Amino acid sequence: RLYHFVVLLDGEETPSAQATEGAARLRAQLTVMTPDKTPLLTGVTLNVQAGELLLLTGPSGLGKSTLLRTLSGHWPYYTGSVQHDTHTSWIPQGSYLPPGRLDTLLAYPRSNQVFSVEQYRSALSVVGLMPLSDRLEQDIDWAQQLSGGEQQRVLFARLLLNQPKLLLLDETTSALDETSARTLLRQLKQHLPDSAIVLVSHQTFLREEAERVIDLTGYAPVAE
Ligand SMILES: Nc1ncnc2c1ncn2[C@@H]1O[C@H](COP(=O)(O)OP(=O)(O)O)[C@@H](O)[C@H]1O
Ligand SMILES: [Mg+2]
Repeated sequence: RLYHFVVLLDGEETPSAQATEGAARLRAQLTVMTPDKTPLLTGVTLNVQAGELLLLTGPSGLGKSTLLRTLSGHWPYYTGSVQHDTHTSWIPQGSYLPPGRLDTLLAYPRSNQVFSVEQYRSALSVVGLMPLSDRLEQDIDWAQQLSGGEQQRVLFARLLLNQPKLLLLDETTSALDETSARTLLRQLKQHLPDSAIVLVSHQTFLREEAERVIDLTGYAPVAE
């Protein structure tokens, strides 16, 4: 019965055989507010299925990060409903890598014992970080050593290892060039075909990688 939710979105929909058969990963109908209860985005309806990438766009300050924070369960100031897969990963905007072993950073939130060296190497290879595969045990401040784009590749490798069913990504490709951003998203979709991705991004070229695009501008309260 849950699968009969009406899609009210005005996003551009591309027919996708994969998505038709996909299981629901996120269903939400909500209004997101600031702590003083000022509405940021009202009446947002989202329905995302396995195999889909939903791109959310809109100007800065609109409430995109607050929306993802709400969807992930880390923002209490909203009304409405949010249902999502229990295995969900949220990567906040500007996520940074704390000092530590590389395998620990890759395995997070699981323990570094959970994955084999082969699994780490494979994930690093997919995200274009093969040179790091001999440094899994190195305990340093990786954020100091890796470029912003390389740190975002590490975050992608983390997703490949953990295989969440719903990925809430907040500007997670912002430090990558167009080709790299596109390639990483394709790799993610290819390796996690049973997952859904919700990506907030300003990078308009990513529209072409998405099954659906929603400009959240239309959900902002009308200024008086
Ligand atoms: N903890 C907070 N307390 C008060 N206002 C907040 C808080 N977090 C975000 N906001 C406000 O919500 C608005 C939307 O922020 P944000 O979701 O980060 O926008 P976006 O990601 O679209 O750039 C901003 O005006 C911001 O000041
Ligand atoms: Mg933001």
